[in-house]
Amino acid sequence: MAVGLFDSGLGGLTVLDAVTKRLPKVPFVYFGDNAHAPYGVRTADDIFNLTCAAVERLWAEGCDLVILACNTASAAALKRMQETWVPPDKRVLGVFVPLIEALTERQWGDNSPPREVAVRHVALFATPATVASRAFQRELAFRAIGVDVEAQPCGGVVDAIEQGDEILAEALIRSHVEALKRRMPRPEAAILGCTHYPLMETTFREALGPEVKVYSQASLVAESLADYLQRRPEFLGQGTMGRFLTTGDPAGVSNKATQILRRKISFEAA
Ligand code: DGL
Repeated sequence: MAVGLFDSGLGGLTVLDAVTKRLPKVPFVYFGDNAHAPYGVRTADDIFNLTCAAVERLWAEGCDLVILACNTASAAALKRMQETWVPPDKRVLGVFVPLIEALTERQWGDNSPPREVAVRHVALFATPATVASRAFQRELAFRAIGVDVEAQPCGGVVDAIEQGDEILAEALIRSHVEALKRRMPRPEAAILGCTHYPLMETTFREALGPEVKVYSQASLVAESLADYLQRRPEFLGQGTMGRFLTTGDPAGVSNKATQILRRKISFEAA
């Protein structure tokens, strides 16, 4: 049994950390497409092609279920993949729906009609491609009415994190939060809609202030994956070993991943 986890780079490690804690017996095969990150400035076609190639690689590792631990791929490619490309014996799931279910206080898989919810003003921080897709607003509209979403495309932040330039990442985040607050002065909730952003969660929280409830995905995705595997254990694939694969430089990516997860991580060439 093994499950695949995909991200354009290092951000999916925030999800990996949470799922390995929640499901310690499940081996996870992680694929970071670091050579092609950031995805957030690419076209939807490009993101679709790169994501499909990575998912095929994870299927070859015996992972019948692959989680796109990347909002950009979930927003710009997942629907098309599910509708046109994923065969019936495989599953590819994204990270948006668990987050929106939490925001709208729904049980996993509750498909009842949209209704009014407690939160009214939501700030969404995400990559330019995720914001342009409007996937978050589309998924939210299936579940809630009357929620005002202000989205801020956070150009440059993923690149700075991938390069290990924390000072630049911090400066960019502060200016993106300020830009959003000019348009929505008092958000009640903020969504960190990119799996890289929890690595800079303290900066987001400081810039937003204590009255804003911050939602990030890792623990929500872990809970919904545990629930999914309980209902659909047949999608625990044939793979038996956890591995870390990258299209980038394995030594450099391993060093950064080791710093992020605070344990020795060794990436191999994909
Ligand atoms: N971690 C990816 C996400 O959640 C980053 C995308 C990128 O590479 O720009 O959106």
